[in-house]
Amino acid sequence: MRTLISSAIGAALLAVFAALGSGLISGVHEQTKAPIAAAERAAEAKQLLEIFPDASHDNQLIDDTIMLNANDPLLGLRTPGIGYRARVGSQVAGVILPATARDGYSGDIRLLVGVDRTGAVAGVRVLSHRETPGLGDKIDLKKSSWILSFDRKTLSNPVIQGWAVTKDGGDFDAFTGATVTPRAVVAAVKSAIEYSQNNRSTLFEMPEADES
Ligand SMILES: Cc1cc2nc3c(=O)[nH]c(=O)nc-3n(C[C@H](O)[C@H](O)[C@H](O)COP(=O)(O)O)c2cc1C
Repeated sequence: MRTLISSAIGAALLAVFAALGSGLISGVHEQTKAPIAAAERAAEAKQLLEIFPDASHDNQLIDDTIMLNANDPLLGLRTPGIGYRARVGSQVAGVILPATARDGYSGDIRLLVGVDRTGAVAGVRVLSHRETPGLGDKIDLKKSSWILSFDRKTLSNPVIQGWAVTKDGGDFDAFTGATVTPRAVVAAVKSAIEYSQNNRSTLFEMPEADES
């Protein structure tokens, strides 16, 4: 009988602690959700401004958004993504497109590709990747300046065959012992520019700030 009572008390105590524990976790989650979202937004805004600096536009990039569909082969997004527009007055001076290279060495490489009205790359930044430290991670601006080699490039400069790594006869350097990662990024950036050209009227000619 005593054993029965003590195991019932044990079970009740366990249930109370479990409830307290999960309450505490969800409380902490609720409290940290807003600051985390704010920090993510600030980090994103910083990257957008690296691509289109303040002097190049007069709108708030982070607020001038356009929804982009998942699974368009040229952007490679696995879920719908958000693009951003840089404006001077009512004219769209450039767009920043999210793009996913699905063929990185270690899976998806998520990028932001800025393209201006003339079709030239304004800048490319890596949002996330799992490439190997010391090899594929040189796509990250914190590790090397390689990603800046896309600046000002267009689909005719270099010519289309040049949109490949040097090992494949193209114009973009690969890294020593790591060709897979830069090959994937070069292809994704080229496709994103193609997307911006194919969807020029939607991306560049919309007068309102956000039709999503
Ligand atoms: C443990 C390990 C990690 C590697 N990580 C990468 C990487 O992150 N990016 C990459 O391009 N290659 C990486 N490589 C090298 C690739 O396997 C490949 O040899 C290299 O990219 C050259 O590709 P290629 O034969 O197409 O020129 C890694 C190799 C090993 C053994």
